[in-house]
Amino acid sequence: MRILGIETSCDETAISIIEAKGGLLHPQFKIVKNIISSQIAVHRPFGGVVPNLAKREHIKNLPLLLKKLKSLENIDTVAVTVGPGLAPALWTGVEFARVLAKEINKPLIGVNHLEGHVYSFLLSLKNKIKISQIFPAVALIVSGGHTILLYMNSLTKWKKLGETRDDAAGEAFDKVARLLKLPYPGGPEIEKLSRSGNPDAINFPRPMLHMKNYDFSFSGLKTAVLYFLRNNYLRNKADVAASFQRAVIDTLVGKTIRAAREFKARSILLSGGVSANKSLRTELRKKVNQADLQFFTPPAKLNTDNAVMIAVSAYIDHLSKKSRKITAQPNLTI
Ligand code: KG4
Ligand code: ZN
Repeated sequence: MRILGIETSCDETAISIIEAKGGLLHPQFKIVKNIISSQIAVHRPFGGVVPNLAKREHIKNLPLLLKKLKSLENIDTVAVTVGPGLAPALWTGVEFARVLAKEINKPLIGVNHLEGHVYSFLLSLKNKIKISQIFPAVALIVSGGHTILLYMNSLTKWKKLGETRDDAAGEAFDKVARLLKLPYPGGPEIEKLSRSGNPDAINFPRPMLHMKNYDFSFSGLKTAVLYFLRNNYLRNKADVAASFQRAVIDTLVGKTIRAAREFKARSILLSGGVSANKSLRTELRKKVNQADLQFFTPPAKLNTDNAVMIAVSAYIDHLSKKSRKITAQPNLTI
């Protein structure tokens, strides 16, 4: 099945084409096209994403990206992110997809962006592994807008164990980067600066790490960094970045491993923009090995927003006969 995916939920305009086969028991994907137009340069002067600017850029970029596909032959279905995300940005993608699907006379599947992140690990699977060997699994989604832990019985059945009560992990990275006067988006900047800092230099709080539940909270940690910088303005910025990053990683890894133990999971799935962070991947992988679990995460370039994961998710929706309203749903959850 050939699927054309469209993603415009935030600040990346993305279009993809994938070939999907194998069904729910052995899904396999070939990426035919993966085109992303990043808006970072447009939003950077504002220190964050400006929704109406994002909309304007999506309107400008979508037809340009579509042209780059060259041929729309043999497309079986179009897929588009319907939520969650920024309302004006989502609307642009949904309307564009609606017109396109009509033009080529193909069905349109509305995709949940968060499920797109979760399913993106499928793109890194080796041929030998069977889907049934992966589950039950605990999935950690860490993005700019969400921090969620799921217990997954199968590819299509899960329950939410916990989520952030305030800022998402990526949001905390972006806000602390701003405190350190680093450009947007802050995650990759903090990661880079952390390489020359000492992660044990400052003992920032590990919010809610020792509470029994699986919720997260990162806004207090951001405030701790703010106060620390006020009182220690001469302090080495790299030490602050590295110590903050360590506090976030300890919290995410600690809770994820505990959930996997408590619920006797066989695997841990890691996804979302923050999972591009190498220290997080390394630390989680280390703990996963110690706990004798399996670890799955998307290929490096597919952690942050893209349209391949949207097409992959549409394939799973198609197989499981899940259908969503084709309308922008900014507050859609998982
Ligand atoms: O999944 P994503 O691309 O978009 C959303 O769905 O939100 O995630 C974007 C978030 C941003 O907050 C960005 O700072 C963070 O992911 N991020 C990182 C890294 N790369 C992106 N955070 C930490 N380390 C990174 N290397
Ligand atoms: Zn995302």
